[in-house]
Amino acid sequence: MQAETLLDFLLESVTENPNTKLVREKALKLIQEIREAGNHELADALLKCIKPRMSHPDFGTYKNYWNYLAKNMLPDLATGGGKDMHEQQYIFLVHECGLQKDDLFLDIGTGSLRGSKKVITYLEKNHFHGMDISEEIISFAKKRVSKNIDLMQKEPSLEIDDRFRFSKAFPGKCFNFCFAKSVFTHIYPDAVWDCLVQLRKVVHNSGKFYATIFKDNNVRVYSGDVQKMYYNTEWLAETSNLAGWGFEEIGDTRVGQYMCLFKPIPVQYCSMSINKV
Ligand SMILES: C[S@@+](CC[C@H](N)C(=O)[O-])C[C@H]1O[C@@H](n2cnc3c(N)ncnc32)[C@H](O)[C@@H]1O
Repeated sequence: MQAETLLDFLLESVTENPNTKLVREKALKLIQEIREAGNHELADALLKCIKPRMSHPDFGTYKNYWNYLAKNMLPDLATGGGKDMHEQQYIFLVHECGLQKDDLFLDIGTGSLRGSKKVITYLEKNHFHGMDISEEIISFAKKRVSKNIDLMQKEPSLEIDDRFRFSKAFPGKCFNFCFAKSVFTHIYPDAVWDCLVQLRKVVHNSGKFYATIFKDNNVRVYSGDVQKMYYNTEWLAETSNLAGWGFEEIGDTRVGQYMCLFKPIPVQYCSMSINKV
């Protein structure tokens, strides 16, 4: 039983798992228990097996991971995507999804703005809102804006938050167009849930939320880690419904990855009269 549990931990203990520190501590504790129970051979074998993993850096959180990437690579490279991604993203959002100039737009995990710069210049002033977990990346994005008059004139709002607290980052805003390119492809299910629940509070009933994923319906819920995460879309559909969203699979688009569309389920409070109970 101990060996099985340990194996579970080992499988979870991928390089940049945000819970790596905890996983490592638990794995070492279990090996120590196995040793104390007298099974030195198994303890040695398991220790040998996890040592290479222990040598990888422990980023601890998503924030540390993305800050680390942004510091060690150019932010445009850290956040990925092809060279003409801003063009493809613009065509997809404006021509294929009907984004209007006066839509109140929220870009979740906005990154270096490599993908969103053309959308900013298309939208009316003050209509672009970008949020990201990484201070390094947002600082780069702000510099990009300050160096480009077309971007600057649109006064995009760029905020940092690590728990998708949209209502705190953008108080009083009610968005009608939201986008998350290549964000669910790097986060665990609890963070997807946080995002959907927090987002539902700041999106108009007629709004839309497009998000990309990597799809794998052979896994129960998810597989992967912060570097590349796959989701089962049946789980995603059910989870979205619980968080107040309808869910549609769009599939492959010009912006890459696998596109999903979330539409708010209008809030319906319980209305049964007391007499009927
Ligand atoms: C692969 S990049 C994509 C950036 C941008 N959407 C694009 O397509 O160019 C992922 C971005 O999501 C941000 N991110 C990752 N986890 C996040 C989280 N939990 N909350 C907010 N942003 C997050 C990262 O900092 C990074 O900028």
